[in-house]
Amino acid sequence: MTDLRLGVNIDHVATVRNARGGAYPDPLRAAKLAEDAGADGITAHLREDRRHISDADIDGLMAVLDVPLNLEIAATKEMQVIALRHKPHAVCIVPEKREELTTEGGLEVAHEENRLAHFIAPLRDAGCKVSVFIAADKRQVEAAQRVGAQVIELHTGAYCDFHTKGDFAARDAELQKLTKLATFARTLGLEVHAGHGLTYDTVLPIARLPEVQELNIGHFIIGEAIFRGLTPAISEMRRLMDEGRDLR
Ligand code: PXP
Repeated sequence: MTDLRLGVNIDHVATVRNARGGAYPDPLRAAKLAEDAGADGITAHLREDRRHISDADIDGLMAVLDVPLNLEIAATKEMQVIALRHKPHAVCIVPEKREELTTEGGLEVAHEENRLAHFIAPLRDAGCKVSVFIAADKRQVEAAQRVGAQVIELHTGAYCDFHTKGDFAARDAELQKLTKLATFARTLGLEVHAGHGLTYDTVLPIARLPEVQELNIGHFIIGEAIFRGLTPAISEMRRLMDEGRDLR
């Protein structure tokens, strides 16, 4: 075991379930299997349009999980009420657009400081650890601290996309930015998480960053589970994270 936690995002088990509108595959069963496979936490994004995770899934996760739940939500009144009802271990605030396929960019914390500060305060008072999902941008890190977030989750999507496209110069430049910002965030007393788009090919350099304490990974693991099963797919991610950690 290392000091780097793995949060397994189970949204896309629900995506497959909802493709038929039925009851399977069951995201709760996936969450319990992920726990057994060594996940340190489960992440689920309750989107405004409920395209994957449903309200009933959140009820179920809160009831059955032995590891912490990280609930991802947009900063809306409806989601704040839901989060305050469940009081999950962690709440991650993400930007949300109905037309997007996935969470495309980071949260504009700097432009919405007042609103976000009011959104975050009651969640913190309820005992939730609050994070904001941001791009590698110093202004957003500074704003995250001002609005009262305890954690930043750095968006690794751009880094992963550059890798996939084979643009290794841009990938390495993005990794540099993420590295610098992780260090900077720690100097502000913020905990640092990272995630989005991570795969077996891209996880190592992120796991190597000593300031990063948690990775949240979903889509790739759930896809890989089709070929090797969920438990081996998670175990391999865990192994690579540990390898990255040892390379520090
Ligand atoms: N972290 C956050 C804040 C996210 O919104 C997502 C996607 O829902 C992830 C991590 C996981 O991304 P992926 O499914 O691409 O691994």
